[in-house]
Order: sequence, then structure tokens, then C-alpha cells
Amino acid sequence: MSNTSRPLNGLLIGTASAATQIEGGDTNNNWYEWAQGPNIADGSTPFRANDHWNRWREDNELMSELGFPIARIGLEWSRIEPEPGHFDHAVIDRYREELADLKERGIKPLVTLHHFSNPLWLERNGQWTNPLSIKAFLRYVRYVVRALSDLVDEWVTINEPNVYATQAHLFREGPPGNVSMRDTLKVMRHMAIAHLYAYELIHSITPDATVTIAHHLRSFAPLNPNNPWHKFLTSADSYLFQDQLTEAFGKGKFGPVMGRSPVPEGRYVDVIGLNYYSRTAVDGLKDGTFPDVPLNDLGWEIYPQGLVECSKDLNERLGVPVWITENGCADNGDANHLESFRPKFLADHLGAILDSSVPIERYYHWCFVDNWEWSDGEIPRFGIVYNDYETQRRIVKPSSRMLSEIVKSGELSSDIIARYTAGQTYRTPSTINRVGTKHTSDPQEKP
Ligand code: BGC
Repeated sequence: MSNTSRPLNGLLIGTASAATQIEGGDTNNNWYEWAQGPNIADGSTPFRANDHWNRWREDNELMSELGFPIARIGLEWSRIEPEPGHFDHAVIDRYREELADLKERGIKPLVTLHHFSNPLWLERNGQWTNPLSIKAFLRYVRYVVRALSDLVDEWVTINEPNVYATQAHLFREGPPGNVSMRDTLKVMRHMAIAHLYAYELIHSITPDATVTIAHHLRSFAPLNPNNPWHKFLTSADSYLFQDQLTEAFGKGKFGPVMGRSPVPEGRYVDVIGLNYYSRTAVDGLKDGTFPDVPLNDLGWEIYPQGLVECSKDLNERLGVPVWITENGCADNGDANHLESFRPKFLADHLGAILDSSVPIERYYHWCFVDNWEWSDGEIPRFGIVYNDYETQRRIVKPSSRMLSEIVKSGELSSDIIARYTAGQTYRTPSTINRVGTKHTSDPQEKP
């Protein structure tokens, strides 16, 4: 990493979140139901989460104090459309209040329409394996975009279709938890069609809107670059998990396993959202890591250059600018610190962006306040703000202050890096403090 100060050059920085992971209180979605079974590492459910449904004003206020100009937020479909075709106007009004408040504070929202969770009625009807899900999604999108278009003009239709499809239908990491390659591909296909039509629908309502997906890409690399089997699997994984979806969602171009495209080939994203977390060393079908690499507290490799590699790939394939719609790390700190290496992670990833020539326009860090991490429950802490789940007290972590200084000064300066990352090192396979139990110690660092 270079040691000089780097101007942001127009890169906008904020944070990202998803409704189910922060709102709390909703029992009408598939993840709440799934969390009733033995599926969540700590037995928690999204019912508690951050109570953001009631505390949104406080969260917005904190965000505006920190000075972030943008925020990615999500909507809960099951709240908005609790029964098929029946929309809850009070819920939309509540979202309107939150969005208007962001606007007043000068924070521009990027709004996600689908982020892993489905209304129970959709789940009962075969969720996204059923082609009728496409129609249902478009009905919901039409309602929401018409209701919010005076406050929102940036939309993510679907978050990580590849992660959704594989966790739900291949790896048993999410509802309904079956194992079927056929269903996985069906879901990818239906979500792609839903996005392509939603792209056109949103533009027919608000022609100037910016519409995209949040695509999850990993850097895939053969564990042994001299092993032809590892090399073959690397290309196969990359194609099946991400590249074919880049083409399908971004261009309407369906490869052989996706079936026929319903639309003429064209451009179906205005920018491309990238969620990037890690690199995978490939020697089989499951994710692996290279030996002795830096790891986060969930054992995922920290590989900043991958952020640029994946951005470059998307930009070259689709010809549109990249927005990093998610990037972050599980860092649970230790008994005396709220975090151990997130500031270094931020310096390394932002540094990689600023050192590259790829047109990356936005960076949304995952996430703002520590939140409910799906099947990992409340265990891993991804937030730049600490959440005490018992009291719902928010405590600013050093990384919040660091990001705030970067945004306010308009540069990633060597001084900021030196002050926030002094003494920080990443964990490795031999030093990792892999999280598997709740972080119960009292936070020592005060705002
Ligand atoms: C998801 C987020 C999740 C994050 C960290 C991403 O794949 O979009 O919802 O919290 O990873 O696990």
C-alpha cells in the first residue's frame, strides 16, 4: 500500500444495510420462520435485530453526524405486501418518513427491493422456484416505485441472486434449505427475468432512475495453479456462480444452463453493484482458503486486491461504472477493544480502489450498526457502530470515526491511516479468533 495521501476524487462513501437484518419485529418473512428451527448459530431470530424499525431516527442522526452523503437501505417486502396483492399503506408511509428524513439530512438513499427475505405467502408457493414469483415481484416493484419515486431514484432490484439461490437450494444455509442444482438454476433464471423486467418497469415509471443489482463476486483462484483439475474447477465455479449471472442480469444474455432469455440482448443495469468480501482457493466444490493468508473472524480471507479485480471484470463485461454496494469484515475485537483490524481493512480496501484506474464511483461499507447476520445470528460483528443487543445502545467504533474523517477531509491521508491503524495486524490461520460464541464482554471504548 502506498504511503501518500490519496484524494477521493469524487468517490462517495457510505454504509449498507438490509431490512431483515436491522429492523426487528417482523414475523411474516421466511427468515423469521427458518430461525424457529435449529438453523441459526446462536439460536437468535431477526425479531430483535437492531430494533431499527423503531430507532431509525436515532440511526439516521448518527449517520448524518458522521457526515456520510449516501446510504444503501433495504425494504421488507413481507411488511409492505403482507398478503398477495394487499399493500399496507401505513408501512409505506413509515418508510417514506425514514427516506424523507435521510433526504433532509442530505443523505442520498440507494434502495434495495429484495435482499434474501420473502413474504411467507411467496415462500409457501414455492418461492423463487415458481415462475409466478416473477409476476409477484413485479407487482410489488410497481407499487413501491410508484409510492416512493419522489424520494428515491436509485434502486437495487435484487441483492446477490447467486448467494440467495445457493444458500437456499444448495448449501442449506437459508430457507427452504433443500439441496437441488435444478432448483438453484431455476431460481437464478427466475430472478434474472424478474430483474430484466423490473429494470424496464422502474424506468417506465421514473425514466431517470439508476437501476442495478448488487452482484456478489468472489476472486476465484486455483489452490495449486499447476493442478489442471483445480484450474478447471476455478473456471467452472466462476462461470456458474457469477459470470453467467453478470451476463444474464447485466445484458439479458443467457448462457446454456440458464435457458432462453425473454428479452433482446442489451444493457439492463445503469451502473453495476458489486458486493465483494473475499477470495476462494479452489480445489473442490466448497470454498477454501490459501494457507497462511490474513483472515477475518469468520475465517474469510482478507484480499483487498480482489475488490479491484472483480470491479474490473464487471466494468469490462458490462461497460458501466461500478458501485461497491457491499464490502466489509467480521471483526469482533477482543475483551478490551470493539474492533481489532477493521480500520486497517478499510485503509487497504479504499487504498486499492484509489490506486486503481477502474471507474468505481461509490463505496458502501457493510455495515453501519452490527446486525443480525442470517445463519450466523448475532455472532459476527460487521458494523462500524457497535450494537449492544440487550439495551440497543449504539457505540461508535474507531472505524466510524476513521471513515467520517476520510469523508469530511475528502482524502485517504497517510495521517489518518497512521492514527487509526497503528499496531493493527490481520489474523492468520494460527492466530485467528474465529467467532463461535457470543461476544459478551462489556465494550471498553466509549464514543
Ligand atoms: C449479504 C449481507 C451479509 C453479508 C455478510 C452479504 O453476502 O448481502 O446480507 O450480511 O454478506 O455476511
